[in-house]
Amino acid sequence: MELKLQSGNLTAWQGDGIIVNLLEGVTTPGGATGAVDQALNGLISRLIEKGEVKGKLGKTTIVHTLDTPGVPADRVCIVGLGKADEFTLDRARQAAANGVKALRNAGAKNIATILHGAGIGGLDVEAAAQANVEGIVMGLWRFRKYHTAPDEVGEIDAVTILEHDTSKLAAIEARVHRGKIIADATNLARDMANEPGNAMTPTRMSEIARDVAQKHGLEFYVIDRAKAKDLGMGAFLGVAQGSDEPPAMIVMRYWGAGKDAAPGLGIVGKAITFDSGGISIKPSENMQDMKGDMSGGAATIAAMQAIAQLKPKINVTGIVPATENLPSGKAFKPGDILKAMNGKTIEVISTDAEGRLILADALVYATQTLELSPIVDAATLTGAMVVALGNHRTGVFSNDPALTATLFKIGEETGEKNWAMPMDEEYAEQIKSDWADIKNSGGRPAGSIIGAMFLKNFVGETPWAHLDIAGSVGLMGNAKENGYKNKWGNGTPTRTFVNLALTLANK
Ligand code: BES
Ligand code: MN
Ligand code: ZN
Repeated sequence: MELKLQSGNLTAWQGDGIIVNLLEGVTTPGGATGAVDQALNGLISRLIEKGEVKGKLGKTTIVHTLDTPGVPADRVCIVGLGKADEFTLDRARQAAANGVKALRNAGAKNIATILHGAGIGGLDVEAAAQANVEGIVMGLWRFRKYHTAPDEVGEIDAVTILEHDTSKLAAIEARVHRGKIIADATNLARDMANEPGNAMTPTRMSEIARDVAQKHGLEFYVIDRAKAKDLGMGAFLGVAQGSDEPPAMIVMRYWGAGKDAAPGLGIVGKAITFDSGGISIKPSENMQDMKGDMSGGAATIAAMQAIAQLKPKINVTGIVPATENLPSGKAFKPGDILKAMNGKTIEVISTDAEGRLILADALVYATQTLELSPIVDAATLTGAMVVALGNHRTGVFSNDPALTATLFKIGEETGEKNWAMPMDEEYAEQIKSDWADIKNSGGRPAGSIIGAMFLKNFVGETPWAHLDIAGSVGLMGNAKENGYKNKWGNGTPTRTFVNLALTLANK
């Protein structure tokens, strides 16, 4: 899909469809929507009057222009923005996605749109430009690679953003560029997560990371099984032990502040390319969803791509522990005791609590070896996270209130919404072990908090936040498609990682 930015008016634009918008409750549309309404002899106003178009968020209406003089485009799509007092930047992003998806469903190829939210919604035009582009590019994402027959609904060839105020074009252009980079990265994370486990192996993930690194000038290396053994990564290797696929601890480094500056931000992502549960095997129902258990790692690789392109003045390192979790004659077992890179011993209660084991060594490597600070990890860590927050918010577990606040703010702006979860010391009681320093499961109560309490043993005093994305990335059957978010494997928290790097660079 080609994305263009031009000065001009929708009423003069020729093509398959144009997109306008409407706030809920507005009876006489203004701005660009008003201009199109007038050119259509008041058709949109009439539809509002009849109650057919209400401006509700998530609703779209397509009217055919039938050669009406004054509107050369074949179709007009009216997207609802919802209520004025509830309008947000993320709703502009959603509206942009809804508009292009509706016209794609109608068979349009070449379409034009205004920037939703910039005029009527009262948003800053530059922020709106970025959000609209993100909505368009993420909204049109599909994963049809393995369908051999084409879908009935074809692809959009080109989307033109029309802005009538030429004095704003240069500023808008910069944010269109940023939005495209961030949305493309999110789509890369989605592509990786949606691939099946037989394709997206640890080796394949490291190849993608290497390609990204080479293309965008990042330092890159992989810690393989032998090297991990030398480094004492016993927890990571314990999980990898049952798989014939070679594990890979992937490291990507961006030096935006130079090598003399602080090592900088660390982003760490869990990449279990298939989680069968291992010897503590999962029930077979919905086990196929566990191909997406590498979503945190995918977001990390994808975010490093966007950071390399956006070039903020900060150093950022991405670390992705990647392995399968399978049962076999060589697999680790309940009762086994593993030793992590920082020397702590771990009694394995469940081989299905494997994410925290691979993250343990990745976090020690990040904090002790590379001395990164702060550290943010993302993991599809616990099913309990879905019980606690459903699909709409990521749980944030942190030892640093300022970092928590920053992540909350980024979440509201990006639509990758976060919610702070507790980490009281009392919870640590649940993972005390009779045989080792700690155990990897503390039973059912507070499952997600226990996962975070376990990880806390491997970050020392480093400011750190753990994002449990098991619900928010949409791997459980109950997630729904919504605006620019596809229902399964939606790329969360790629945009959070990128925005965090941009935010910290400006501090
Ligand atoms: N990858 C799963 C968690 C998960 C489940 C993510 C469903 C997304 C959707 C994780 O490795 C796991 O199995 N966690 C266990 C932990 C338990 C054994 C302490 C869980 O949640 O049951
Ligand atoms: Mn598991
Ligand atoms: Zn897992």
